Amino acid sequence: MRNFENVDGQMLIGGVRASEIVRKYGSPVYVTDEDAVRSNFRAIFNAFDRRMPTRINYACKANTNLAILRILEQEGSCIDAVSIGEVEACLRAGFSPDRIMYTGVNVSTPELKAVAALRVPINIDSFSELERLAMIDPGLPISIRVNPEVGAGHHEKVVTGARSTKFGVPRDRIVAAYAEALQLGFRPKGIHCHIGAGVQVVEPFVQATEVLVSIVQELEKELGLRLEFIDIGGGIGIPYRPEDHAMDLDLLAEGITSLIKNGTSVRRVVLEPGRYIVADTTVLLTTVVDVKETPDKKFAGVDAGMNTLVRPAFYGSYHHVAVANKLGMPPEATYDIVGPICESGDHLAKDRALPRVEEGDVICVYDAGAYGFSMASNYNMRPLPREVLVHKGTMNLVRESETIGDLLRYQRIPSRLML
Ligand code: LLP
Repeated sequence: MRNFENVDGQMLIGGVRASEIVRKYGSPVYVTDEDAVRSNFRAIFNAFDRRMPTRINYACKANTNLAILRILEQEGSCIDAVSIGEVEACLRAGFSPDRIMYTGVNVSTPELKAVAALRVPINIDSFSELERLAMIDPGLPISIRVNPEVGAGHHEKVVTGARSTKFGVPRDRIVAAYAEALQLGFRPKGIHCHIGAGVQVVEPFVQATEVLVSIVQELEKELGLRLEFIDIGGGIGIPYRPEDHAMDLDLLAEGITSLIKNGTSVRRVVLEPGRYIVADTTVLLTTVVDVKETPDKKFAGVDAGMNTLVRPAFYGSYHHVAVANKLGMPPEATYDIVGPICESGDHLAKDRALPRVEEGDVICVYDAGAYGFSMASNYNMRPLPREVLVHKGTMNLVRESETIGDLLRYQRIPSRLML
């Protein structure tokens, strides 16, 4: 959660008034502060790189806006991509193929061929994928994802490292996977795991690193294989609530890098943060269109809903909210912030003490930069919103909103139904 500047009750984002952004670009709108992206990247990179050579693979599933990708390209970031679409977006943003790593799950052969044809290194998730890639291109740099049997995350739906999940090669088959890779002609460069998303504490990362270190030792002993990197994945949480604590990056970096340096000859640590880099850089601004009082509740009805930001409805996630044009004013009532989607689950926030909310007010939803736009949908035939980049008092439109025509474009009515 970032603290925004307050000038006479008006929220400033990157030096621009929130109400001015809405006036110029309409509502709802996602707004990203460029400086925040740069400073988050530098904070995590420096915490690790001062201890050992580090590569940050930004998990672009969190946010694939091309302007954000450009900023991170300029910062020297690399990329974790999960689909051919993400790979192509990152190439378009200027990343060279060797700065991208493709980590798919249940990857189809056509997608594997498309990624290999672009010369993007592949992080293998299964024996099947390994064997299919060997038929396509055994010269491609690969690493292998292990299921570390260490899982964590803010919700059961985002825990990936537990034994019961679909991800990675099982721990007890991982040496066999590397042996098979060598036999097929690959020269594996690294090992990877990802425990889950939104992890607020250091311990599970340390536990997973211990697993990776012991595998690296087995690979050296049993196969004579020396890896170049250990990739500990992403999942570093952020404080969404005012009372939450930020992750202690130094403690995290020290825990992970000391295990690698003391236990292996691996030279580089790789991390794949998504949320940590972009979540708090971006807010969703949405306008109050209808205030309703029922016997039980006050509802502030806004023009963004679970179609715009699904995390509260899908995971029960907390996103902080404020009235951007009444910032710092004392709370007068408790509201649910609800959207235009025809489902009772359609809410952005529940039971929030806010200044008196009136139609026309602008609500700011915090920490919407990770998995906000990227999980938005067209449910109820609603076009995706605009995205704006602010930078030291300037504004740029970085995504135009869709039109209803865009939504209808791909549908076809069979002619026999037109009679
Ligand atoms: N690496 C891998 C292999 C991943 O699967 C993920 C996220 C990441 C890195 C980045 O995780 P992060 O640092 O952003 O937590 N939609 C959910 C999050 C799902 C994350 C899926 N994988 C949410 O809104 O919380």
